[in-house]
Amino acid sequence: MGRTAVKSVLASGGFDVVAGFDVCAVGTDIGILAGCEPAGVCVSDVSEIAEVLRTVRPDVVVDFSQAQACVKNSKTVASARANMVIGTTGFSKGELGQLKKNLAGVGAVISPNMSVGVNVFWKLVGKAAENLKGYDVEVVEAHHRFKKDAPSGTAKKAVEAIKAAVGESRVVCGREGDCMRKAGEIGVHSIRAGDIVGEHTVMFTTLGERFELRHVAHSRDSFASGIPAAIRFVKGRKGIYDMGDVLGLR
Ligand SMILES: NC(=O)c1ccc[n+]([C@@H]2O[C@H](COP(=O)([O-])OP(=O)(O)OC[C@H]3O[C@@H](n4cnc5c(N)ncnc54)[C@H](O)[C@@H]3O)[C@@H](O)[C@H]2O)c1
Repeated sequence: MGRTAVKSVLASGGFDVVAGFDVCAVGTDIGILAGCEPAGVCVSDVSEIAEVLRTVRPDVVVDFSQAQACVKNSKTVASARANMVIGTTGFSKGELGQLKKNLAGVGAVISPNMSVGVNVFWKLVGKAAENLKGYDVEVVEAHHRFKKDAPSGTAKKAVEAIKAAVGESRVVCGREGDCMRKAGEIGVHSIRAGDIVGEHTVMFTTLGERFELRHVAHSRDSFASGIPAAIRFVKGRKGIYDMGDVLGLR
């Protein structure tokens, strides 16, 4: 995703890419890594992030890494008075709390899915849940075999939208054995297979009918579609936002 983010930012124009960080590929030009023309900026080891940020003084840092790493990076980035766009997922409740604490003095857009389509999907899921109270709700998500976290951040956010509409519910991740569906449950099911980019279906079912909302990402470019807009939005702002704010989907 780091490469996809670089590609989308370079293609969208109007930005100076001044640094890149990772624990691997250190010293490689980030444009070449992203499959574009050389950008004249090489990947720095993330252990040097504080010094590099002091030198290049970015307005915004984009993070697609891993939950623990992102929490750590956010502290350093906020100390450098830069804002953040965070696409990383898989935060525990405690990590998310710490992340928001670290970002208290700066601005950040945090979204487990930057695709415009998925942000519209979340909004429609909330609307459907509001209008289909009492229906059985099941969320099914599918991703590639390398994905580290489950359920996906996108599925969790769909569950939040459903809960906001129907009230506190019991979330059941997968079912096995003696586990007949109880009223008010939200079932969540994760498939991990091959190279599936990302698919999410929410089923609202009752006796006699089923209504489904489904989003399918055909390529990682779909996730990148919102990144330049999120960077423009957060530059110079304070506070924590999500892609709903960026896209005006409130
Ligand atoms: N928001 C979205 O639209 C969206 C879309 C896809 C994936 N994601 C999430 O983005 C994250 C990255 O996904 P991915 O598929 O690129 O994973 P990946 O494992 O391919 O890439 C993660 C990268 O982070 C690097 N890394 C590890 N520790 C680091 C650190 N301390 N600082 C900087 N970089 C570090 C790794 O070396 C690796 O290159 C995951 O949490 C994933 O769920 C978000």
